This record gives sequence, structure tokens and C-alpha cells, in this order.
Amino acid sequence: MHATAVAVLASDAAARAAGEPLGVPVVAAPAEALVLLVSTPKGLALQVTGADAPGPVVVELVKGKVGWRKRHGASPRDPLCRALGLHKGTRTVVDATAGLLVDSMALVNAGLEVTAVERAPVVHALQRDAVKRAGGVPGLTLVLGDAIELLRAWQGSARAPDAVLVDPMYDDERSSVAPKEMRALRLAVGADVDGAALVTAARACARSRVVVKRSRHAPPLVPAPSYAHEGRTTRFDVYLRA
Ligand SMILES: C[S@@+](CC[C@H](N)C(=O)[O-])C[C@H]1O[C@@H](n2cnc3c(N)ncnc32)[C@H](O)[C@@H]1O
Repeated sequence: MHATAVAVLASDAAARAAGEPLGVPVVAAPAEALVLLVSTPKGLALQVTGADAPGPVVVELVKGKVGWRKRHGASPRDPLCRALGLHKGTRTVVDATAGLLVDSMALVNAGLEVTAVERAPVVHALQRDAVKRAGGVPGLTLVLGDAIELLRAWQGSARAPDAVLVDPMYDDERSSVAPKEMRALRLAVGADVDGAALVTAARACARSRVVVKRSRHAPPLVPAPSYAHEGRTTRFDVYLRA
């Protein structure tokens, strides 16, 4: 039998209530999916199926790394904030590949207005659950949809942001999201093969700049960034609006 990539178990009422309205398929047994949207005492989670699977992955906005950054405040010298032009007047950002909201929360905590776009319904369900558990996150708006289409629709309108962040999923090792989380995400959403089209839509929409997050030694996703900010494992390629 060919397993569905991601699904909810028929027996998990809470996960079904979150996933079914978003179109997440329902299965009878864990073996029918590679990843399950499950309800846990910590909140909704992604659970990779199979004997050697790591534990469930939740989006956590209050505790852990994201919570620590919130309590200690984001540094204006943070390479992501600098790349997005916080010091040059950037106030609104579309995070076009929101995922587990690690980057979105870093930007919110730095005082930016963030629209976090996610196209995988199951990941959007995790995000909504996390925001609800956190009692709301001022400055963060979650949107379910394909950022390529949304950015094209927002181009030239009041919804066009100062900057767009693009961080597509690759097969290489990544730093901002830990390996367990990345494995679950990768199985749930697959590789993002249309990253270059997303950058094109972002460059047409952003008022000031687009930042593409890459592994430090990976080639640019789209040729000729204006410049790059290099971190220990990550590089931010900056495309300034002409
Ligand atoms: C590598 S993860 C991003 C991790 C994120 N930066 C974080 O801090 O957690 C990529 C995510 O972007 C989503 N994605 C990729 N292309 C997209 C698109 N065109 N529109 C909306 N979401 C997209 C994927 O479904 C996946 O959840």
C-alpha cells in the first residue's frame, strides 16, 4: 500500500477537528501515513510514523528557543533582522515560507509586523494551535495559501510589504530548525521545488527587498543577490529593489 504523506487518525478527535476543515486526509491506522497530525498534552503535533520515529514536533512560541528570544529581546544586529533592513526602515514583512514560525517569531520579537504564509494545511494547523496556546501573538498574522499566488495578488496594493523572507525546504542540512523538526516537516510537505518562482513573485511585490535564507555553502537560489549576510551555518542573500 502507498502511504499518504500526511494525515490525521480517525480515532484522534482533536486532531481531526483541526485538520479536517483544512482538507487534511483521515486514515484508520498510523501505517497509512508517513506523518500524522496528532493531539498531544503539549498541543497539536506532527508525528513521524514507523518504529525508529522521533517524538512529536509541536510549534512552541512561549517556551524553548523562541520563548527565550522573546524574553531577551531580538538584537538589532541579528543577521536576519539586518538582512531584512530593520535598521533601514523595514516595518512590514511577509514570511513567505512560515513553517514552524521560528523566523517569523524572531521578526515579531524585533518589533516587525509579520504576515506568515504557509501552504501546507497541516503546518498551518500547527501554527494556529501554537498561537492559540500562546494566547495570541500581536504583530503576527497567519495566512494559509501559496505565497506565489498571494504575493502576485498583493503586488502594488496596500498589502505589499516592505520586505519578503523566503526560506524554502531543501534536501541539505539546515540550522534554524532542529533535525527532528526538519525531518517531520520534510516528510509532511516534501521539497519546495518552486523556490525560484517564489523569489520572482517576492521581488515583484516587496517595496524594498527580498531575503533568501540558504545554507552557508549553497549557491544562490536566484543569481546575483545585491549582497549577503553570512552566519555560522546560514547565509542570507539580499535582493534590493532597483
Ligand atoms: C524550510 S521550511 C521554513 C522554516 C521556517 N523559516 C521556520 O522558521 O520554521 C519551509 C516551509 O515553507 C512552506 N512553503 C514553501 N513554499 C511555499 C509557498 N510558495 N507558499 C507558502 N508556503 C510555502 C513549506 O510548506 C514549509 O512549511
